[in-house]
Amino acid sequence: MNALNDTFLKACRKEPVSHTPVWFMRQAGRYQKEYMAIKDKYSMIEICHHPELITQVTLLPIKQFNLDAAIVFSDILIPLGPMGIDFWYKGGVGPVINNPIRNKTDVEKLKPISASEHLHFTGKALQILKKELNVPCIGFAGAPFTLASYMIEGGASKSYIELKKMMYNHTEAWNKLLNFLAESMAEYLIFQAECGAAAVQIFDSWVGVLSEDDYLDYVHPHMLNMIKKIKAKSSVPIILFGTNTSHLLHHFKATGADVVGIDWKTNLANAWKGLNYEVAVQGNLDPTLLFADWKTIEKHASKLLKSVENKKGYIFNLGHGILPGTPTENVAKLADFVRTYPYV
Ligand code: CP3
Repeated sequence: MNALNDTFLKACRKEPVSHTPVWFMRQAGRYQKEYMAIKDKYSMIEICHHPELITQVTLLPIKQFNLDAAIVFSDILIPLGPMGIDFWYKGGVGPVINNPIRNKTDVEKLKPISASEHLHFTGKALQILKKELNVPCIGFAGAPFTLASYMIEGGASKSYIELKKMMYNHTEAWNKLLNFLAESMAEYLIFQAECGAAAVQIFDSWVGVLSEDDYLDYVHPHMLNMIKKIKAKSSVPIILFGTNTSHLLHHFKATGADVVGIDWKTNLANAWKGLNYEVAVQGNLDPTLLFADWKTIEKHASKLLKSVENKKGYIFNLGHGILPGTPTENVAKLADFVRTYPYV
């Protein structure tokens, strides 16, 4: 094994680096023919429960592209299974939950989980990956709000009516659910760090559907609790990411996260300035840009890199996950371009 390339970790800690580190959210997945070949034999849920398959899929993008970090292959919904949530992934639709949660009784029926007992396969994969990789491996979990959105709505949603009904009308049940998820996911992330994850990312993909006041009233205290719990037990950098969150980024910073993920609609340089450069940032090309011709991709990537020149604590990424159908040659070229961009 080669020496560890710790550029990504240095950027998380706002230390000087010799090139801009790059990785892509959802870097292992359906745009890769090697992934599709594995998917022909195993379902998404089967892959996520077998350490050897998790390892194999996690390594696919690392072998194919020049990246500065891996992300352990799983899904944010996997920990919901042992809690008693019955779900599956419907092709072309996404997650479908067969027994959504709608009231206090449903919340009280959720089973407590222990990561080492119920999610040992992710831990085992992280242990193997630590030996195989010469880049850090990122562990991850869903944030309480985003997990609750699937549990309550029963799948993806546009207006989050059921979720907001519970939040506004049954606030006690809502807080009980978010507290349960915050504590369980904190424990899961600590477990991943103990097994070899060098950093952890919390995905709060859909929290941007809340107003700033509602975020502060109904979600922020749970994020503070979750991140405090992780920090008490582990020193790995914590990345917090969501989409449509430009109105929430200063609160993301206030959670104590080390790195704030910026979605693709937000101007990253302005957002970072707004955070007084006090945290590292990660992002944020539009994932759809990867379907454009290389000249256009290069123009946008250069503009983004130029906008953060001379600043410590920047990690190049997309502003949301790689989409199915993305041309792999563009992913390869973009990673190479970022890593060789003249660093001043
Ligand atoms: O980044 C990586 O390479 C690790 C893998 C990863 C997956 N899901 C695999 C996956 C990660 C980090 C996630 C996180 C996740 N899952 C999020 C947060 C990130 C984001 O994109 O906002 C969310 C909201 C989910 C929930 C989820 N799981 C959705 C909405 C879907 C369906 C949409 C889709 O992309 O298919 C999934 C299924 C899923 N998770 C797939 C993969 C590779 C597709 C399943 C398949 O291959 O059949």
